[in-house]
Amino acid sequence: MSDYQAMQAELTGAIAAASDLDAVEALRVAALGKAGSITGLLKTLGGMSPEERQRVGPQIHALRESVTAALAARKAALEGAALEAKLANEKLDMTLPAAAAPRGSVHPVSQVMDELAEIFADMGFAVATGPEIEDDWHNFTALNIPETHPARAMHDTFYFPEVGEGAAQHMLLRTHTSPVQIRTMMEKAPPIRIIAPGRVYRSDSDATHTPMFHQVEGLVIDRGIHMGHLKWTLETFLKAYFETDDIVLRLRPSYFPFTEPSAEVDVGYRQEKGRRIVGGNGDDDGHAWMELLGSGMVNRRVIANCGLDPDVWQGFAFGVGVDRLAMLKYGMDDLRAFFDGDLRWLSHYGFGALSVPTLSGGISA
Ligand code: PHE
Repeated sequence: MSDYQAMQAELTGAIAAASDLDAVEALRVAALGKAGSITGLLKTLGGMSPEERQRVGPQIHALRESVTAALAARKAALEGAALEAKLANEKLDMTLPAAAAPRGSVHPVSQVMDELAEIFADMGFAVATGPEIEDDWHNFTALNIPETHPARAMHDTFYFPEVGEGAAQHMLLRTHTSPVQIRTMMEKAPPIRIIAPGRVYRSDSDATHTPMFHQVEGLVIDRGIHMGHLKWTLETFLKAYFETDDIVLRLRPSYFPFTEPSAEVDVGYRQEKGRRIVGGNGDDDGHAWMELLGSGMVNRRVIANCGLDPDVWQGFAFGVGVDRLAMLKYGMDDLRAFFDGDLRWLSHYGFGALSVPTLSGGISA
């Protein structure tokens, strides 16, 4: 074995045994670097006789080529092993749920509307809607509030400018959700059981009034409906909504043009640390009554206005402020904050986007 062959065996053996990329590099420098052993041999070629160079030259070049190839092979092997190890360690479990929490929150008004829909769905009520830009007839006349009726003045209505001579209808922003009663009775044959949540508008603004607020209307039309059905429905609804059986209602005779008889409904409450807690009999010690909603038996004239025979069909209706329901249950004290769009308020009072209210899972989950 020539010296070159011995050197080749020694170098390629060392390269094959190199345990990491740094060791491979050190061997490369030692053999092929500026002061490397093979580089030194190549330099000796210049001082050789032509015959000697012809004999030795190819051997030295062969040595350099085999060492270069051994270095490249070892480097590739070590890099491949490193990649394999990385792939084996860096596992991504695609079955894990997404970690990022949803941003934003559900506004208390939306949450309460969802709660109401859930509670009333359980009693067989569908959700109905109507336009916010309403005509005079649906908002007033059909509800037994004729042109000259003083109730019109009480509603602080936002009217649109009258368009053209003899325009069919004077348009306005609906002042209550009651026009949805009319639209529903005209579109669907009884029996009817609906709630109609939505925005309403009145020209009024202070700590407890905003020009836009929310109501939910309830309407039942069927045969043989009486005030007992109304009272049971309201009691069942309020118990589910406030999540307590300790709800006592007081029905006070009242007046609405579209119901006859009419009743204002009060609920008993007590004051706790400056907050109203709904529950208990308003006549008991430490308790009081709070006016909560308007209701009554649908006026015969309203039923007739919708083309139904009031001798066959009766019903009850009620209307309640959604914002007020939200304030009572979740403890806000200024209605105006509902519509300021302040992110701090929304993140404090808002609800998780994925926690949908259900009667079985908790209505305020
Ligand atoms: N529409 C009435 C209001 O806005 C409330 C109401 C609805 C009263 C249905 C009775 C029946 O004040």
